[in-house]
Amino acid sequence: SNPNNTVDTALLKICELLEANITYYNWVGFYFKNGDKNELKLGPYVGEPTDHTIIPFGKGICGQVAVSNENFVVPDVAAQDNYIACSITVKAEIVIPIFVNGENMGQIDIDSNTADPFTTEDERFLEFVCEKVSGML
Ligand code: SME
Repeated sequence: SNPNNTVDTALLKICELLEANITYYNWVGFYFKNGDKNELKLGPYVGEPTDHTIIPFGKGICGQVAVSNENFVVPDVAAQDNYIACSITVKAEIVIPIFVNGENMGQIDIDSNTADPFTTEDERFLEFVCEKVSGML
């Protein structure tokens, strides 16, 4: 991505640190609510470029989290019918929402090339990361 402000630079750094330090985090990125539209817009990320820079609310794992306000852990993406494939190498995905003053403003999205890698420890850790990100927004 092409960060153009301080927050995006920090978010990109978070993506880089997570991807570099956790072997089964292979694509790490942020999506945010796009203004007042019912869609997500891709923010900073590391990993393979994706065509899915805009995701309507409700579509795919990310779009579902935009409306559910809940973590979504997908151990096997092939078993999901409402899933947007970005890369054929991806086997699992985790999406954790980011709340600002109680409002769901975006999410961290992580793809793994390993099957069923995500534990409750990943959820607690990524919730912590998302709380820190919330404080930066
Ligand atoms: N797989 C996601 C789309 C985003 S890519 O993983 C980067 C989804 O189903 O929402």
